[in-house]
Amino acid sequence: MIAVPFTDVAAMTGELWPSIETAYLDCLLRGKYIGGPAVTSFEHEWAAYCGADYAVGVANGTDALELTLAALGIGPGDEVVVPANTFIATAAAVVRAGAVPRFADVSDDTLLMTPATLSAVIGPRTRAVIVVHLYGQLPDMAGLLAVASEAGIYVVEDAAQAHGAEWDGRRAGSFGDAACFSFYPGKNLGAFGDAGAVVTSRPELADRVRALANHGRSGGVSHYEHAHVGTNSRLDALQAIPLSGKLAFLDGWTQRRIAVAARYRELLSDTALRFTGIPSGTRHVYHLFVVRVAGRDQVRAELARRGIETGVHYPVPCHRQPPLRQFADQPLPVAEQAAGELLSLPMFPHMTEEQIEVACEVLSAVLQERNADPELVDVR
Ligand SMILES: Cc1ncc(COP(=O)(O)O)c(C=O)c1O
Repeated sequence: MIAVPFTDVAAMTGELWPSIETAYLDCLLRGKYIGGPAVTSFEHEWAAYCGADYAVGVANGTDALELTLAALGIGPGDEVVVPANTFIATAAAVVRAGAVPRFADVSDDTLLMTPATLSAVIGPRTRAVIVVHLYGQLPDMAGLLAVASEAGIYVVEDAAQAHGAEWDGRRAGSFGDAACFSFYPGKNLGAFGDAGAVVTSRPELADRVRALANHGRSGGVSHYEHAHVGTNSRLDALQAIPLSGKLAFLDGWTQRRIAVAARYRELLSDTALRFTGIPSGTRHVYHLFVVRVAGRDQVRAELARRGIETGVHYPVPCHRQPPLRQFADQPLPVAEQAAGELLSLPMFPHMTEEQIEVACEVLSAVLQERNADPELVDVR
């Protein structure tokens, strides 16, 4: 049997490289790496792709979140709602901005925040919600925007896993006051290292993020005039060139991810796996293909032994992580239960039919063998 990797970043780079080789080497050898036309072009292209007016390239997705909160004026004394089921960066950005994260539970079907779980944790100090489009899917945006508008709070999209994902025909990045993207190499649109962007249609917010990310320099002032205390979190040209190049491939690669997901659902339909729900009108871009299974750790170990690499996103919900426990004031039963069952199957655009079939064959066999064990229950 062949081994199946969890992802294959090098295959994406291999397909991309001929189209950017000249521009990349030219930039490298000319020695102009910070800012410049490649960064500006990518910012325009990315904003247009998302259906927003502005994109500000930054150093990574975590900084995108932290800079957005700072640019919105969120800090000490404020609370920001985040889902319990997300990567720690979502909640850590709130703490680093000086505010307090309030954790919302997630839907048992989609594993995303819902209007009801958001409503349940909004209080008098709440200033914003970070809506996370986890795994590549947007939650009920109409419902969440209505709750946020009623409460008078900002909406920030954490779209780190959702490049090109849609809800009701609109793309991730076009809903909130701002949206934060990561271009970490393994993301659906990934750079050759760390990179990120803040997308918004509010010009003053874009200006403020840009200033904060560039040592507090405001537009038009000289190199050593600083209007704010900022930081250094810029996108560089050697990341912008592959990002622009990969944009031409993104829709095709997303189609491949969607096709892999459809094969998984077909080939694994008779197993004890539980799939996440996809409400109609959403376009899931499958950054991750996540299922739920009882006895996850044993299943995962057995898959690894037989050459199938998997992931867990995420084994510990954010509010149970040691530095964040102090902010958890109530149980979040869905996120807590799901964390022990989540399993991410191999997912990447260059996955071959043979790799899909082998992964499904091995997984089905592992589940069947495990069914003989009366200690383990179905999670349906
Ligand atoms: C949901 C989510 N938010 C934020 C981030 C942070 O992005 P970065 O790794 O670029 O800092 C990630 C990246 O893994 C993520 O998956």
